[in-house]
Amino acid sequence: MTNPDLAVIGGSGFYTFLDDVETVEVETPYGAPSAPIAIGTVGGRSVAFLPRHGPGHRFPAHQVPYRANLWALRSLGVRQVLAPCAVGGLQVELGPGTFVVPDQLVDRTTKRIQTYYDENACHVAFADPFCPRLRGHLQNGLAGLEPVDGGTLVVIDGPRFSTRAESKWYASHGWSVIGMTTHPEAILARELALCYATVCLVTDHDAGVDEASAVTQDDVMRVFAEHIDSLKGGLAEVIAAVGTDRDCSCSHAVDGLDLPIELP
Ligand code: ADE
Repeated sequence: MTNPDLAVIGGSGFYTFLDDVETVEVETPYGAPSAPIAIGTVGGRSVAFLPRHGPGHRFPAHQVPYRANLWALRSLGVRQVLAPCAVGGLQVELGPGTFVVPDQLVDRTTKRIQTYYDENACHVAFADPFCPRLRGHLQNGLAGLEPVDGGTLVVIDGPRFSTRAESKWYASHGWSVIGMTTHPEAILARELALCYATVCLVTDHDAGVDEASAVTQDDVMRVFAEHIDSLKGGLAEVIAAVGTDRDCSCSHAVDGLDLPIELP
């Protein structure tokens, strides 16, 4: 097995990706990841796949072992992470079936551990939460799906969906989409100096968009299932085009910091 440099973390409805895989069980100081990590080949390159919610969606968004997941991937050699997810659209024009590559994130979670660095002063820059280079590759590789370039992803704890009032309030800020998993995943990736970007598939209009909108889990799963094959095809193109040179600042995210732990 060649060590994978790139990983895909699959979200709701995205539980498999690679053919001819080998699976590896990885233990981390933070416990086991959501599932054994599958390693296979895409476009001649070794790629890791981890279903974020585990087999049979065992871990709802607020229970995902985020720290173990990112740590396990890095320990296998992964330095670039593509992390698709299902989201609700907060604006009328962002309806089901739309793909969005956000460039900003608003953390509305309250109960999640969002750091590896519990000691020392380690303040990692997060002004731009997503790797600009990977975002560009997602835009290009998924061009056939006409992804919206940029926008703000709000992340809530869940597991419940938002009330109409909450949803209207998020939308009133001009924020684009809402999901439950990209935080703390994005900041943990940054703390491990990984490149990380997401492509969001809008599965529903969130509750505040109009009076008819009242998202259900069935809607989310059904719409994701309708688009999963085109998403997988697009991701394969992205992976074929992404190099291994990381001429972005992500790899330097913790340079000069007095880290209390050694990175794997
Ligand atoms: N995931 C998919 N749709 C969602 C919504 N409306 N709110 C939060 N997370 C979601």
